[in-house]
Amino acid sequence: MEIKTLEFKDEKLFLVDQRKLPNSYEIFVCETYKDVDFAIKDMVVRGAPAIGASGAYGVVLGAKEFKSLDKDAFTTKMKEVLEVLNVSRPTAVNLMWGIKRMRSVLEDNIELSPEEIYEKLKEEGNKIAKEDVEINKAMGKHGNTLVPEKATILTHCNAGALATVGFGTALGVIREAFYSGKDIFVYADETRPRLQGAKLTSWELVKEGIPCNLIPDNVAATLIRDGKIDLIVVGADRIASNGDTANKIGTFMLSVVAKAYNVPMYIAAPISTIDFDIETGKDIVIEERDEKEVTHINGVQIAPEGVKVYNPSFDVTPNENITAIITEKGVIRPPFKENLSKLR
Ligand code: MRU
Repeated sequence: MEIKTLEFKDEKLFLVDQRKLPNSYEIFVCETYKDVDFAIKDMVVRGAPAIGASGAYGVVLGAKEFKSLDKDAFTTKMKEVLEVLNVSRPTAVNLMWGIKRMRSVLEDNIELSPEEIYEKLKEEGNKIAKEDVEINKAMGKHGNTLVPEKATILTHCNAGALATVGFGTALGVIREAFYSGKDIFVYADETRPRLQGAKLTSWELVKEGIPCNLIPDNVAATLIRDGKIDLIVVGADRIASNGDTANKIGTFMLSVVAKAYNVPMYIAAPISTIDFDIETGKDIVIEERDEKEVTHINGVQIAPEGVKVYNPSFDVTPNENITAIITEKGVIRPPFKENLSKLR
């Protein structure tokens, strides 16, 4: 089953509007780089690899907008485009990684005309998108080696096709296990406050026919303690050189319980999610989002007027709580600093 999370065609970026799922399937069309900036900020598109590829296509749309200017004016405008998109969201390093790839294309082709640069940027955007699906499929194969023939798997947030260009990272591992004929059952955390588990992961699982239960987040610890979970697999937004991993808020809590009850905790992420420029998770910027994400559900207020809210969107799981990191190049085990550095 194919989900086209994002697609560049007719000089526009088409995004599945993830704010609307599962109740309606709508396409959000980006015609300018500012539309992409908005789509990332407002989480029309979300998930680290998906925003990496969208950011790259945002640069393409910027070039489309300004390619009729003279070379100097085009270059100045493109600097602005790169700067704006680079900070659309702060935690997932795939966004900065995607922008960096586009910046290199701009710099390497600076002698060409704006029209030719635009074509080069489009090629690079398409390359990033194509590679992402291949990488996820490779990750799925490596990750599947960790899944027993009969397994109950817990996942958090959405690290599926919707969080990538296709197939998914953590959900890619689950998909691959299911396709390979394993007898698997998935528990999907609902993932407050944005409910990516309830709205997106369970939508993907139900569409695929993968047996699952959607659970409130606070059920996970009980399932783990009662021996009902064989392994946990989640995605990542940024992995530090030492393996400390930022992922959706609540992942750290799961990792603590998993460690206490000896349940393997796997992170599935492409190498583009590893930030070799930072040593530890302390250097990861954690996004804080609008208080309405907590005080309201689907636009309905559920908390008293005037209440103060703390709403970090991600947390950092320390490397000692992680059993292994699944990448497209294979399964990386501790010591992470040493073993991750071989992927550079
Ligand atoms: O705030 P979101 O929905 O963008 O957060 C997404 C996650 O935390 C995912 O687990 C992560 O990006 C990995 S997606 C393959």
